[in-house]
Amino acid sequence: MDRERFYITTPIYYPSANAHIGHGLTTVLADAMTRYKKMRGFETCFLTGMDEHGQKIAKAAALAGKTPQRHVDDMAEMWQNLWKKLKIENDIFIRTTEERHMAGVEKIFNTIYEKGDVYLSRYQGWYCVSCEAYYTERQVGKERICPDCGKAVEVIEEESYFFRMSKYQDVLLKHIEENPDFIQPASRRNEMVNFVKSGLEDLCISRTSFDWGIPVPVNGKHVIYVWFDALSNYVTALGYGSGDLSLYDAFWPADVHLMAKDIIRFHAVIWPVILMAADIPLPKKVFGHGWVMLDSGKMSKSTGNVVDPLVLIEKYGVAAVRYFLLRDIPSGQDGYYSEDALIQRINSDLANDYGNLVSRTVAMVEKYFDGEAPTCGDAPLPEPDMELRALAESVTDEAAEYMEKLDFANAMTAVFKLISRANKYIDETAPWVLAKDPAMRDRLGKVLYHLLEAVRIATLLLAPAMPNIPELVWAQIGYWPEGGLSWDLLAWGGTKQGQRVSKGAALFPRIDA
Ligand code: ME8
Repeated sequence: MDRERFYITTPIYYPSANAHIGHGLTTVLADAMTRYKKMRGFETCFLTGMDEHGQKIAKAAALAGKTPQRHVDDMAEMWQNLWKKLKIENDIFIRTTEERHMAGVEKIFNTIYEKGDVYLSRYQGWYCVSCEAYYTERQVGKERICPDCGKAVEVIEEESYFFRMSKYQDVLLKHIEENPDFIQPASRRNEMVNFVKSGLEDLCISRTSFDWGIPVPVNGKHVIYVWFDALSNYVTALGYGSGDLSLYDAFWPADVHLMAKDIIRFHAVIWPVILMAADIPLPKKVFGHGWVMLDSGKMSKSTGNVVDPLVLIEKYGVAAVRYFLLRDIPSGQDGYYSEDALIQRINSDLANDYGNLVSRTVAMVEKYFDGEAPTCGDAPLPEPDMELRALAESVTDEAAEYMEKLDFANAMTAVFKLISRANKYIDETAPWVLAKDPAMRDRLGKVLYHLLEAVRIATLLLAPAMPNIPELVWAQIGYWPEGGLSWDLLAWGGTKQGQRVSKGAALFPRIDA
């Protein structure tokens, strides 16, 4: 039988030197979600990439004294290296300068052109090069600044192809209203509904004042507007417009387009309308998460107030950085980054709670059972054992429920309920006291068995967030799941008597602030 499939995308990022932990949040979230879905048995496809055309890139390349192509090649390498260091396991890395992408964009353009949804006219108005977006008089105000990034906008006047978005206003509204999951979280959906109701204007989809883009198929003087080009990546990456539609047939429509709230309008309004016009089914969900904030405001490459993920990974390790992003930025809302907050998270959750649970458990099995996992035995379980076991089961369900909603902050909180309870269980059962009484040998074995199970289950539940940690834990508790990680392994009782348990280095050394 065919496995269920899951396709998730991040935005394709602009090739700039200032990759930061805001980009990291989107990509780590998509990666954690993919790993979770894999554990649930899905066949997954995870797409990220680079958005390499447009006026902004042409300008940046000129400033760097390079050709645009050279400039984007250099940047793409840098970003791919970052994703590797962040343990991102994307299946596809699309670049919009690739032939396969350009062919797909042309196909979409031609389809809507032939349908009569594109007409030639002149655009005169405001444009923000940093956001690559058009704004109205009212949006830029008297100050003439971009309502999204706050930079000065410029006036442009040029011949342009227009896309009849206005024609699709009612059908888009109907789709949003009939599919409550289409735009998430709900606050974003309301914003988008209001935006659409305020009136969809036709959109300029070509530029003539520079040439770094995909030529308009019917008129070589124009290049296709960079957002039209970029959004199409979600289908061209799957082969749309090429001779090989196997990935497209398998994975489209996307299950989730993930991005921060600043570009949700492009994904929840413009992209669906392009798809409708091109007779392509709409994605199932567009999810706009919040921003990573600094005390000084939104972390943003255009203002330069950024935190480099590579520096943090070097200093604190990739697991801690991923965990912080998933745990401290509440789902769908803004969250604050500071180095103090990161250190606090590492020390409290990862070192004190999780790391300690692993090292205490392993040390006791070594000390009292010569490093051999004891048996749980058949005798009925006393109260604290029953409670720990029931909690492991309920926390597993709770974590899954949150992960399904892309709410890793609450999923992580659920897992740490189990970890805290297991630490408390150590204090309640006092294995060091049991160890002194030979008559309590069975009881001691049961207690340590329960702790090994708590460690194993917590580690499996944290694996999507911190994918490099399971191997380190398995090496200590002597547990090697065959055939990769899967949700079925979460059933109670995976620890086998006689498993070789041996202490390793501390998983998360405490950071001295
Ligand atoms: O917009 N907090 O690319 P981009 C959280 N090329 N996420 C943040 C963030 C922050 N402070 N800053 C950036 C583009 N992001 C277009 C996209 S898609 C067809 C084209 C993340 O390089 C977030 O996901 O400016 C945001 O949507 C994305 O980076 C914007 O990246």
